[in-house]
Amino acid sequence: DKGNHRHFMLKEIYEQPIVVAQTLRSYLRPLDGQVALPIPDFDFADIRRVTVVACGTSYYAGMVAKYWFERFARLPVEIDVASEYRYRDPVMEEGGLALFISQSGETADTLAALRHARAGGQKIAVVVNVPTSTMAREADLLLPTHAGPEIGVASTKAFTCQLAVLAALAANLARARGKLDPRQEREIVRHLEEAPAAINAALAYDEAIAVVAGQIAGARDVLYLGRGPDYPLALEGALKLKEISYIHAEGYAAGEMKHGPIALIDDHVPVIVLAPSGPLFEKTMSNMQEVQARGGKVVLISDYDGIQAAGEDCLATITMPKVHPLIAPIVYAIPVQLLAYHVAVLKGTDVDQPRNLAKSVTVE
Ligand code: M6R
Repeated sequence: DKGNHRHFMLKEIYEQPIVVAQTLRSYLRPLDGQVALPIPDFDFADIRRVTVVACGTSYYAGMVAKYWFERFARLPVEIDVASEYRYRDPVMEEGGLALFISQSGETADTLAALRHARAGGQKIAVVVNVPTSTMAREADLLLPTHAGPEIGVASTKAFTCQLAVLAALAANLARARGKLDPRQEREIVRHLEEAPAAINAALAYDEAIAVVAGQIAGARDVLYLGRGPDYPLALEGALKLKEISYIHAEGYAAGEMKHGPIALIDDHVPVIVLAPSGPLFEKTMSNMQEVQARGGKVVLISDYDGIQAAGEDCLATITMPKVHPLIAPIVYAIPVQLLAYHVAVLKGTDVDQPRNLAKSVTVE
């Protein structure tokens, strides 16, 4: 049932404040200022490295998590798409935790990679949305997301719920390894608790985002740029746009532009820049200016401060609430999803069932 919404995708985008809060509820103990996993006695102490494996949007959630596992838990993290991981003879050392992320829990490549890692002696953690799925059954450490059924082929609410779980897992790993003092843990919990309200505030820009969609819907190619934990968001933005609007789109790490892709820039290629104010803001801004100097038409997605500082010469700006960098990838997922959605609606595509795609890819 789509409720009052025209598409499942839009309904699912709007469910995010509630389902992210629901998911966080089973991973946070706000009164104690602590994270708590559903399996409290899982032994993280001798984990020496994490391997993250997934496909598509779930893979991008894993890319964000890599930043968090490294930063908070100081663990080496390797990440790969499942279809590569399973065939490349990866080195699996003792004390490895292999983490699989999947909405459906049935994706053939991810499942095969999971079994490959199990055979290699890795402990298996699974972040999964369908609790009765095959991956859920095969996990040593089952970390459910509580997004509810996701019908739209384009993944939206599953992604933000995956990020919520992965942030809690990062904090948990950090504490288990003695890298997080109680004050830091309280801070992380406090920031995560702010996510649902911040998502709500981001959703309030829906109409403004629909207007921006009108400005880019005629483009043949669109680029997305981001840095650090917002770089995977650029990849996710490009995937979302191509999958439902059929516009060619690519995401790049902002700093990679001048190593090739900047040659594509002219005034027909909109460039979506994801840049919350924070430690990486200035760096991203100088990449944005390089694009503008070559006639590129920029859509800047930032908070009020960021837009005040750098929004002037942009084709358009989209204002996000000012949030802590930890939750920025969760909050900035919203404009990325809405932009793709509105472009697809303008183009008249089948938003919930885009051509050539299936909700769950159960063949190799
Ligand atoms: O069910 P999974 O999370 O394992 O699915 C992985 C990908 O097939 C999925 O995220 C796909 O990329 C989506 N259609 C993206 O919107």
